[in-house]
Amino acid sequence: MQFNRPEDAVKYRQSGMFLQSYHLGRLAAMVSGRIPYDPKAALEHATLVDMIDRLPYGAFIEGTADRGNSRAKPEIWTERAKFDGMVTKLHEESAKLVAAARVGTLDQLRPAVGAVGQACKACHDVYQRN
Ligand code: HEC
Repeated sequence: MQFNRPEDAVKYRQSGMFLQSYHLGRLAAMVSGRIPYDPKAALEHATLVDMIDRLPYGAFIEGTADRGNSRAKPEIWTERAKFDGMVTKLHEESAKLVAAARVGTLDQLRPAVGAVGQACKACHDVYQRN
């Protein structure tokens, strides 16, 4: 992807991260019983997680670790293959999340939501500054 300013790349990826976290958060609330389980809404949220998580990772372009209010660690750009592997893992888990949401039971949804959350956390633990 190309951006006019490095700060725009930061804003773009943070926006994508925010959106995926919103939709995953709704699913997490359903599987933990904080909000009622609604299979139709769950499938919508899962589909959006899967779509939106195609967005932010292309905006991790060179030279944007310390731009704007970025909390991205510079190691992303020296360990790109490892970072990209974590992106692939997230894509795999979110595809499974959609399949699980289609089944329409909480028993299927719960572990799938957990697995996506783990894929998010695995990367944040290594590549996001506090
Ligand atoms: C491959 C690595 C990776 C994966 C996978 C990942 N993130 Fe992130 N995330 C980051 C990095 C790096 C940042 C810091 C970006 C920045 O500030 O430039 C970040 C930032 C965020 C932020 C803060 C955004 C802001 O406004 O500052 C949220 C929220 C977030 N991620 C949610 C998620 C969720 C939810 C998932 C899983 C569905 C996820 N992330 C998956 C690497 C990842």
